Amino acid sequence: MTAQKKLFIKTYGCQMNVYDSERMAEALGGQGYVETQTPDDADMILLNTCHIREKAAEKIYSELGRFKGLKAEKPDLKIGVAGCVAQAEGEEIIRRQPMVDLVVGPQSYHRLPAMEQAVAKGGKALDTDFPKDDKFDTLRSRPKAKRGPTAFLTVQEGCDKFCAFCVVPYTRGAEVSRPAERIIREAQELVEAGVREITLLGQNVNAYHGHDGGLAGLIWALDKVDGLERIRFTTSHPNDMDDALIEAHGTCDKLMPYLHLPVQSGSDRMLKAMNRKHTREQYFRLIEKIRAARPDLLLSGDFIVGFPGETEEDFEDTMDLVRTVTYGQAYSFKYSTRPGTPAAEKPQLPEEVMTDRLHRLQALLGEQQRAVQDSMIGRDVKVLFEKKGREAGQMIGKSEYLHAVFAETSDVAVGDIRTVRIVKSERNSLGGELR
Ligand code: 5AD
Ligand code: SF4
Repeated sequence: MTAQKKLFIKTYGCQMNVYDSERMAEALGGQGYVETQTPDDADMILLNTCHIREKAAEKIYSELGRFKGLKAEKPDLKIGVAGCVAQAEGEEIIRRQPMVDLVVGPQSYHRLPAMEQAVAKGGKALDTDFPKDDKFDTLRSRPKAKRGPTAFLTVQEGCDKFCAFCVVPYTRGAEVSRPAERIIREAQELVEAGVREITLLGQNVNAYHGHDGGLAGLIWALDKVDGLERIRFTTSHPNDMDDALIEAHGTCDKLMPYLHLPVQSGSDRMLKAMNRKHTREQYFRLIEKIRAARPDLLLSGDFIVGFPGETEEDFEDTMDLVRTVTYGQAYSFKYSTRPGTPAAEKPQLPEEVMTDRLHRLQALLGEQQRAVQDSMIGRDVKVLFEKKGREAGQMIGKSEYLHAVFAETSDVAVGDIRTVRIVKSERNSLGGELR
């Protein structure tokens, strides 16, 4: 029996990184590691990183700097960098921060046990391959331990779309779909551990092709899993929203009425420059079709302002698209140059122009988000309760529309799904009463 060692993982970026961190912790579990919530008593610190924007990537180096003191006090402490910064920068990380022992990319973390053995002997370990062996084949099956009622499950990884601004095709590699039967087995294991809601993850999840019926086929297969009550998926590309998937939004009871469908810009000129391969008109038609199938669906999106060449008129087209579509939730970003991407070669917009546009867009999106949230008052929603609230007697969960909902109650347990009448709308949550 190996001695118990402590692992501290800090996760940055997207939900796929949250999933990967769980799987890395499980892989290192076989080496005798248990997770700890603080770096102070850890034997290994692993940063699971994000490279999507410059700020996210630079944060990693300042975070590593903060562990210097800890490493000086405890020379046996191992420090690892995983995820997309590891993939993009590889050896450069060890050059900039020699105290880093291990660098592992998102497609090679099934090799962590061997890498851990190498660093335990005092060496360095680096693996940023896109290996032929599928990491999911090699990883241990999910532990049976009881877990919370919601979980992420990666079904597809990578991207072949090559949007001009995006590093994902380079950090996560080409699009790969996991076979449906493995996903269904993993979903069953999660349900046995207490999970009632699964969010299917992929950088381009609706391009999933590990089932003959595509993502819709997989969703219908998961619909048959007893005990699984809710299915969600993220992130989707407009061009992969096929009719079967749209129809499933209208007919599959377990599929929740929420859709994250990034459009990035409302200007045809910018959409073309971004290599998005659709027009604003096509996006409008698509939204109409989706809303016809599921009128109450809550739509979420991603936007980039200040892409190279964006004029005030292009930006106004984005504002106009937002006013036309109406989003219940949205994420918006200033364009950030990513080395190696096609747009990085183009002349950049002044920072103050980007800041001004971002503020205007966020004000509009914020108003819409608030209006959609306020429109829930008086309605009955179904809430999957996830945890106790901050105040005594309070429970918190999520509605079908992914709004956080709290209720004062003493007869609800974590994992229960109950009907709640919404009575108030606060900054980031809704308050309700059990029906
Ligand atoms: N600059 C700014 N935002 C970006 N995103 C992706 N790449 C960049 C970039 N270079 C945003 C997109 C994407 C989300 C995950 O991050 O909006 O949908
Ligand atoms: Fe970040 Fe994108 Fe990598 Fe996720 S896939 S960790 S968002 S760069």
